[in-house]
Amino acid sequence: MDNIVEQICADFYAKGFSVRDNFISPADASVLLKEIKDRGKNLKKAGIGSGAGKQIRAEVRGDFIQWIEKEDVVFQQNYLDKLEPVIEAFNKKFFLGINQSEHHLALYPTGTRYEKHVDTFKNTDARVVSSVLYLNPNWLKTHGGELIIYPENSDSVRVEPLSGRLVLFESTLPHEVLESQAPRYSITGWFKRNSVF
Ligand code: OGA
Ligand code: NI
Repeated sequence: MDNIVEQICADFYAKGFSVRDNFISPADASVLLKEIKDRGKNLKKAGIGSGAGKQIRAEVRGDFIQWIEKEDVVFQQNYLDKLEPVIEAFNKKFFLGINQSEHHLALYPTGTRYEKHVDTFKNTDARVVSSVLYLNPNWLKTHGGELIIYPENSDSVRVEPLSGRLVLFESTLPHEVLESQAPRYSITGWFKRNSVF
């Protein structure tokens, strides 16, 4: 198996999350960032919860999103196709039964955050693995906007949203996005199985 995939699997197994730099090339990252910026005005304020319980509360979650469609070849070719071998390996090694995924572009405008939460919903256990690919080439420490992951058996981990960096974590792990002091771009996704309830 590919060395990178091996390493991601080993981290995920040991800690419940993996942080991988340069998962995609700077060239691919700049193509994706340009595409998201071009779509800027079409991004919509993100909600919390699902179905009838869905709400918009910018003080809890301040990002703007757009779901990626199958026809969006730019995202498929420059990113999503590269995730496939990783998910295949997860299924083989960890028997996760992942058979679907959903992904959206995300922009956190300056001054926004996402409070501590888990990515699973109350009425379904379909979401198994969460993924975030960051697309911020000139990110500074002073921009904040870190992802904080709270693993089950160890101290919290702080992840800067640096371009080309891929984070995968168990969707049941609590996490938050600290307030961002610059526009923060990413692609967020969820790998899902058939829900048993
Ligand atoms: C989310 C989320 C983390 C990030 O969209 O549910 O937690 O770093 N995103 O953007
Ligand atoms: Ni989340």
